[in-house]
Formats: sequence, structure tokens, C-alpha cells
Amino acid sequence: SLRVKKQVINHQRVASYAFAFDIDGVIVRGPETIPEAKEALKMLNGENEYNIKVPYIFVTNGGGRSESARCKDLSDRLGIEVTEDQVIQGHTPMKDLVDVHKTVLVVGGVGDACRKVAEEYGFEKVVTPLDVMKWNPSVTPYHTLTEEELKCARDIDFSKTKIEAILVFADSRNWAADQQIILELLLSKNGVMGTYCDTHDEGPGIYFAHSDFVWATNYSLNRYGMGALQVSIAALYREHTGKELQVIRFGKPQRGTFKYANKVLSRWRKDVLEEHVEQSQASDSVFSDTDEEETESDDEPLTVQKLSQLTLDLPPASTVYFVGDTPESDIRFANSHDASWHSILVNTGVYQAGTVPKYKPKHTCENVLEAVKYAIEREH
Ligand code: G3P
Ligand code: MG
Repeated sequence: SLRVKKQVINHQRVASYAFAFDIDGVIVRGPETIPEAKEALKMLNGENEYNIKVPYIFVTNGGGRSESARCKDLSDRLGIEVTEDQVIQGHTPMKDLVDVHKTVLVVGGVGDACRKVAEEYGFEKVVTPLDVMKWNPSVTPYHTLTEEELKCARDIDFSKTKIEAILVFADSRNWAADQQIILELLLSKNGVMGTYCDTHDEGPGIYFAHSDFVWATNYSLNRYGMGALQVSIAALYREHTGKELQVIRFGKPQRGTFKYANKVLSRWRKDVLEEHVEQSQASDSVFSDTDEEETESDDEPLTVQKLSQLTLDLPPASTVYFVGDTPESDIRFANSHDASWHSILVNTGVYQAGTVPKYKPKHTCENVLEAVKYAIEREH
């Protein structure tokens, strides 16, 4: 059988294993880039003593901008090319809801950014809390829209609009206003503002892009995240109705996100291999330097045609190293769904070195560079 592992292509090989990275607390902290990240990714791009290229993707719970904007940011910070096919944000799998809900309230992020993302995903009608506040400023008695906010708000008659779902895409920039509006809709008749359903069972469903209670920024202590907003909304809902709020969760550690990540990773691994085939064809030096020791001796000689076939039937990665900083999301995510995922916890984010993580990683190390070195050594 043909093996992906350690095949020599243009003097460089593509690994059978792969990486998936969390972003906040592993690659970046707020506006700052974690210094070791650049070198870590260079190593995976082939600058390592084994001359091996290791496919990798990013799985962040963060969001608030398009996948392409996120890629540009990562590429600029890291000095490498990160493509859209390599990035999953918390709200990325929400794309799958476009056929389920037509009119959605998208919450969180700066100004109009999340609306634009949701429209790019294909949602038919996307409204925001700013639109609601513009429609009727009395909805939020203690917040008047700023000029900037007004520019992002559209004219919508919410007395005639049925909101089918509330999608919390990114961290709320205005908890008070957003909670006021979300609670009103949850308790409404069919998602119409200004209505109230006594039985509390006609409101829209609520979806969260992730449930991180805290996250790591460039401040010394962790900051409350979208999961904390979820706790707060659920508490208010319980206080008001006596019932538990039902929410639908995306992001890590959810199984749905894991499946999505696996799909993205296998596509990306195919792309990496195919790119090698093309480069090899172009330079006409395919497998010119086969390393006997590293290549399976019982393999037939590998031709471009065979490799193309191989990329179609690519087996799953032998091991996926997942590097994260938050035990509750990242380590739980990597440990829960597939034994071939290998969780690595770093000390550059939410997790505080010396404490006992709630979910135990397979390995702990200082930072992302150490994580990459550890995995490469383990493989060779
Ligand atoms: O808001 C984003 C944050 O909660 C987590 O991002 O990259 O650590 O999954 P990340
Ligand atoms: Mg993180």
C-alpha cells in the first residue's frame, strides 16, 4: 500500500501526522503575537532538521470577522501564508444554519462586522442589536447609540419582523443592551420585539459560537468571555421563568466542531500533498532524491499519478497534535472525540502553570514552539 508517511517529494517530505492550533493564548494574546509562534510555524512549514512539512490548521473559538480577515491577520503576524481552508472560527460551522433560519439576530463583535460575516455565509436577513436600538431607543433605556453605532444600524420595523434565531457570533461589546434584547426575544411571541409570551415557549432558539467562560488577552488576568454571557443570560432566564434555558453550542469542545475540524484538516492535508505533486511536476524532479531509509521498502515506486490517487484516498492523520491553552475547551476537545488526537497544554494563556487542569493533557509545555518540537521529536 502507498503510504503518505515519509514520502520524499522534491527533497521534502509530508508528514502523516498533523497539527491543530488554538489561537488566543497560543498564537496571540490580544494585539500581541506570542513570540515563539513564528518559529513554531516555520518549523512545520519544513524548516526542521528532518526536512519534513507538517500540515496544520487553526481551530479557534474566537471570531467576529470573516475567515479571510482572520487569515490575513494570522499571515501578517506570522509572516507565512495562512489560507481560509486552514481556519475554523467559533461561528464557522454556523454556516450550516443558513437553510434552517431566514431571519437571524446576530450578536457580538465590532459594529457591523458580524452582520457582514453572516451575510457572507448566506443568511437571508441578518439583523443586529444596533438595528433594534435604532428602531426604538427605549429598548435600552441607558444606552443611546453613538454616531459610529448609528452608521452600522439599519432601518428595520421590528414590530413586523419575526426573528427565528439568535446567533451569538462573538463577544458582546455591550452586555447590558445585548442581554436586554436577547431576553426580550427569548420571552417573546415568535421572536417579535415588543411582545411577551406567558408560557415562554414561543421565542427563537439561541446559539452560541462557543462557551469559553474566560479567555486570555494581553491583560495579566483572564477576561470573561462568551460563556460568561451565556451563564448570565441563563441565570436571568431562570430567574424570570423558573425554567432552564436551552442553548445550542458551537465551538470547542463540542463534537460538531470536532467533526468539522476533521473535515477541514483532511481537505487541507490533501491540498498540501497535491501542491507537492504539482511542484514536483513543474520542476521535473519528482522523487529524484528518495531516501531509502525513510521510505517503506515494500512500496512500489511512487509516480505522480499514484500520488494523485493517494491524495483522493488519503487516510486520516496518524496523530493530530492539538495545542491549546484552555483545559475546559481545548484539552477536553482534543481528548474527547478521537484517540488519535494528542492534547498539548501550553502556559501562555488561560491555564496557570502549577495548577491542576480540569482536563488532563497528554503533554504540558511552556509555549507553542516547545509543543511543536516535542511532537516532531516524538514522531522521528
Ligand atoms: O473569544 C475568543 C476566545 O474565547 C477563545 O479563542 O483561540 O483560545 O479558542 P481561542
Ligand atoms: Mg485559547
